[in-house]
Amino acid sequence: MTKVAPSILSADFSCLKDEVEKVISAGADYVHIDVMDGTFVPEITLGALIVKSIRPVTDAVFDVHLMVEHPETQIESFAKAGADIITFHVEAARHPHRVIQAIKAAGCRAGICLNPGTPLTMVEELINDIDMVVIMSVNPGYGGQKFIPNSLKKISRLKAMLLEAGSHAEIEVDGGVTTANCNELARAGADVLVAGSAVYKAQNVVEAIKALHCEK
Ligand code: DX5
Ligand code: ZN
Repeated sequence: MTKVAPSILSADFSCLKDEVEKVISAGADYVHIDVMDGTFVPEITLGALIVKSIRPVTDAVFDVHLMVEHPETQIESFAKAGADIITFHVEAARHPHRVIQAIKAAGCRAGICLNPGTPLTMVEELINDIDMVVIMSVNPGYGGQKFIPNSLKKISRLKAMLLEAGSHAEIEVDGGVTTANCNELARAGADVLVAGSAVYKAQNVVEAIKALHCEK
């Protein structure tokens, strides 16, 4: 079964505690936390302080997605704030292997994110060192965008690459995931589905998360 990681980017920030509790009690596996710096992507969202403030709300896995330049400068503060998984963009890191080592040294699981225009070869040499690869199926920066269809083939190719290398890394798909395309994504090899609008804008959050838990 795929894991479901609701993105709090689509939550109501005026009552974030309730919004986190809502998705956890509805069956979410991870809480996906989108960190944007206004440089790597246009918007600024939230920092380690917010992560720290919601950490006492749940024991659930906090999956922190860094959409920032110089990700190496942010590892320690997000780890201290309570991140369990930290993923960063290979496009923003000059020394991605060193960033992975820093994330692990901080006691977190490490993952690399690839923008839609970034080839899988950018992660190939690192797949035995990481716990997650994030296939961005939209250009990062905003919730509620449309899924880029080419991502499906990229997921299948990544799955084959991981199997061949004997890598245990999870494949996370982020952007435009819906209850309509989730089964296809699972069949292609997705292990974790990030869903912002598909969960937080759903009429029935329990039903939405149930539908996003797909057979692999
Ligand atoms: C995009 C973010 C995503 C986004 C997903 O930059 O990384 O996590 O919030 O939102 P939806 O599911 O609405 O595309
Ligand atoms: Zn994200």
